[in-house]
Amino acid sequence: MMTDIQRAGPARLAVLGAGVMGVGIATLAQGHGVPVVLVDIREEALERAVGTIPRQLRLARLHGKLPREAAPAGLRTTTSLADVADATAVVEAVTELPDAKAKVLAEVSALIAPGTPVVSNTSAIPIDELAGHAARPQDVVGAHFMNPPYLIRTVEVIRGPRTSDAALDAVLSLLAALDRESVVVGDGPGFVINRILQRVINEAARVVEEGVASPESVDALFKGCLGHSTGPLATGDLIGLDNVVDSLRVLRDRTGDAGYEPCDLLLAKVRAGDFGRKTGRGFYAYDSLHS
Ligand SMILES: NC(=O)c1ccc[n+]([C@@H]2O[C@H](COP(=O)([O-])OP(=O)(O)OC[C@H]3O[C@@H](n4cnc5c(N)ncnc54)[C@H](O)[C@@H]3O)[C@@H](O)[C@H]2O)c1
Repeated sequence: MMTDIQRAGPARLAVLGAGVMGVGIATLAQGHGVPVVLVDIREEALERAVGTIPRQLRLARLHGKLPREAAPAGLRTTTSLADVADATAVVEAVTELPDAKAKVLAEVSALIAPGTPVVSNTSAIPIDELAGHAARPQDVVGAHFMNPPYLIRTVEVIRGPRTSDAALDAVLSLLAALDRESVVVGDGPGFVINRILQRVINEAARVVEEGVASPESVDALFKGCLGHSTGPLATGDLIGLDNVVDSLRVLRDRTGDAGYEPCDLLLAKVRAGDFGRKTGRGFYAYDSLHS
């Protein structure tokens, strides 16, 4: 059976938000020959993306994570949302602030053709809550790419209660075309990964805040004793501590669970602008910015 994406011809992806994730998702699409229009409200984010995407492509190809032979696809950057109108799928990767996402989803869904899947890369906001802001809630699906999306193959796909079969199928086809492996889960704050992971990062930061252990010791225990490839604090730095705090607040507000209240140390780091890799300092210091 043909999906909506196949019926619409070759995929043309619109990516909203040119931050850590939007740029990485654009790299993934480009690496598979899928044209991308990348939208941000900040011109400087788009300028940086134009330099970053070729670097990420080279890195991913070097590691054998993207095909070397894919034909170059068009990349357009824009601050005008109207430029996404002919996309065959939209991936929303704007800042994890519910109001910002609500606004952009309402606007974009009014611009695109009915049946065009609207994919949110939210970390923690329930898909049905986001779908409520879209013109057609049935077209909204969650696809929680991991960071960096062009290196990590598995994607947590979230089916909201109002997501249609057609939208889910179209997103699964798109992810398969991008050589991603999908794991479909149900809806709810934080879905599976962040319901668990954000709490772990918060608790790990609290351990450091209380002087029980250094960041190095916390991460060494998770790596050495549990076989994790990275510890929770290095993971927090990779995600971006600003995003961790935003996600924890989303989880706290939607579950009422005090375990998600961002700890003082996380809040202090965000106040100081120490967001992790993307600013060069978080729980650790980094020589080059993550870009
Ligand atoms: N960082 C991670 O590891 C990670 C992993 C999975 C999912 N996510 C989720 O992906 C989304 C993006 O996260 P990020 O880490 O890339 O954030 P980021 O802060 O690096 O980038 C967000 C970008 O969105 C832009 N933006 C804000 N409002 C916009 C709008 N209305 N239209 C277009 N652009 C807009 C900002 O200017 C910024 O460039 C969030 O929902 C986050 O929770 C992040």
